[in-house]
Amino acid sequence: EKAGYKHFMQKEIFEQPRAIVDTLRSVVDLNREVLQVPELNLDAGLIGKIKKIYLVACGTSYHACLVGKYMLEGVCRVPVEVDLASEFRYRDPLLGEDALLIVVSQSGETADTRAALKEGMEKGAHCRAIVNVVGSSLARMAQGVLYTHAGPEIGVASTKAFTTQVVAFYLLALYWARTDGTLNQAGFSKYLKELLTLPRKLEEVLDRADVLRDWARHFRKVDHFLYLGRGILYPIALEGALKLKEISYVHAEGYAAGEMKHGPIALIDENMPVLVLAQKGDLYEKMLSNVQEVRARGGRVLAVVEGEPDPRLGEEAWQFTVPEAGKWLAPVVFSVPLQLLAYYVADLRGTDVDQPRNLAKSVTVE
Ligand code: M6R
Repeated sequence: EKAGYKHFMQKEIFEQPRAIVDTLRSVVDLNREVLQVPELNLDAGLIGKIKKIYLVACGTSYHACLVGKYMLEGVCRVPVEVDLASEFRYRDPLLGEDALLIVVSQSGETADTRAALKEGMEKGAHCRAIVNVVGSSLARMAQGVLYTHAGPEIGVASTKAFTTQVVAFYLLALYWARTDGTLNQAGFSKYLKELLTLPRKLEEVLDRADVLRDWARHFRKVDHFLYLGRGILYPIALEGALKLKEISYVHAEGYAAGEMKHGPIALIDENMPVLVLAQKGDLYEKMLSNVQEVRARGGRVLAVVEGEPDPRLGEEAWQFTVPEAGKWLAPVVFSVPLQLLAYYVADLRGTDVDQPRNLAKSVTVE
């Protein structure tokens, strides 16, 4: 059942191009270039009434929500608030019938996320779910569902569920913006094309997995890592750090790069490598100055960089390039090298990759 792979996690990382194709095929009519999401139960009338969207989840699914906020606010220009389910459920959130609550979950069974959905229903918000498991509790409780089609995810560390959740948010943003007219058909087609080329770009990253195995070999004894991202890659820094923590038991922190000088820079020395996510575009120069600050303090920099390697990021051996995937889909291509790095570090350290200590695949109790 592991189809020749050593672990389920490894298999699931390599299944991502397929999982993404399945997720987009489930809602995209390629001939007419339209999105059809009948199960989501979200029509133009309702979209017109919504003043604010709340995205709520736990763990990796919460990181997908953080990415979703950038997309929905950026593409649809609708205010979005993101919450951890365990906080949302107890903080008496201010929401009513002009609010749309979207809970996100791979399993559809997470206790805190279920309680958050219940809270939203009781407060009269419109409640939807992005879920991977068909017929799960959240899928049944919500008033509409957008399914990710990742297929069964066995490894405790979420990989393909995460990238398909990000794609689901992209699809939702396109649907929303096209429905309310924010996006015209030409703009929509352009975004759709970017999505259609994404699986091929992931294949290209996966073909170079060995580079990340070499990185893992080199850094496997390190006990602390800092991951830095900016903009839509900030949540990817959080997610990359979570992956490393949960399966290799190596301490890693994800940070917004701009926050470095507000504290974490004090930690930097040669024993704490810094992994930076460098997306070309508006924030690129800012990331380069973060890199200089790290290097000036003797820190070692590993960079995942979009497009060509850049000498300003350091030695080429410590740069892993990912193809340009567009502003909103970059989180997907940047996630994969971080999953692979975490996987190889864990494997080399000999931990139980698919069943890490103290963790369960679905957290059905508080
Ligand atoms: O099934 P869910 O998406 O609701 O699960 C949420 C978290 O428990 C889950 O993402 C957890 O953080 C994973 N182990 C992360 O890899």
